[in-house]
Amino acid sequence: MNAVIEDSNIVVETHDLTRKFGKFVAVDKLNIAVKRGEIFGFLGANGAGKTTAIRMLCGLLEPTSGTGTVAGFDIVKQAERIKSRIGYMSQKFSLYNDLKVEENLEFYGGVYGLDSRALKQHIHETLERMNLQHVRTKMTAELPLGWKQKLALGAALMHNPDIIFLDEATGGVDPVARRDFWDMIHDLAAHGKTIFVTTHYMDEAEYCHKISIMHQSRVLIQGKVGDLKVQTGMKTVEELFKHVVTQGDSA
Ligand SMILES: Nc1ncnc2c1ncn2[C@@H]1O[C@H](COP(=O)(O)OP(=O)(O)OP(=O)(O)O)[C@@H](O)[C@H]1O
Ligand SMILES: [Mg+2]
Repeated sequence: MNAVIEDSNIVVETHDLTRKFGKFVAVDKLNIAVKRGEIFGFLGANGAGKTTAIRMLCGLLEPTSGTGTVAGFDIVKQAERIKSRIGYMSQKFSLYNDLKVEENLEFYGGVYGLDSRALKQHIHETLERMNLQHVRTKMTAELPLGWKQKLALGAALMHNPDIIFLDEATGGVDPVARRDFWDMIHDLAAHGKTIFVTTHYMDEAEYCHKISIMHQSRVLIQGKVGDLKVQTGMKTVEELFKHVVTQGDSA
């Protein structure tokens, strides 16, 4: 009899997930578990291996070894099924500047196979949620960066995914727009969406429920933000980050 009890609330899970490029190990034995409705801050210095790990979780890159599941699907054997359950947004946004705001949403909804009725409904809801109704017929190129960012998040949500991967999605955006963006993230999480986010802004890391700190391909520490501060005696995530990375360097 198999005695393993699975926690159905866990929506992203990895066991010793590893990716090498030639001899270089970009992600070394990653073990994480993220629950439904959680905001998980996947932190780490440049080149730590965050994007590589996310690409594996999104079914875009095969692991060298180890395993992982996203939304209950195996990241290698069921990669195609994962794609319909996740939204992905990177710093580059991947919006079409020469399309109108609503046309970008139409495009992404179409890619995800929404029929015309659902498409109309979702475009309407997304514009409302993102507060972009008044610019719906504007060319995307004309929008300020913070609005483009909201539009890109809206596009990533068009197919109502369970899990959203945000890979440095707030780079270059001003503090007020970033605060707005994070209000939306919290709202999404409160409605049961799981948010997997990388950021180099430590004020944003403070808004996460759980964080992990990765350095040179390995996760050095992970847990609830409050618990980690108590454990290490650090007052802010910024202090915690520097402390952990410095210790990692001297180890
Ligand atoms: N396709 C590839 N071929 C070879 N090396 C790669 C490839 N992709 C990533 N790497 C290397 O793997 C390491 C981790 O890169 P990755 O992009 O995952 O880091 P990151 O944590 O996302 O960094 P950043 O914060 O700068 O975005 C880097 O040294 C990078 O050069
Ligand atoms: Mg990256």
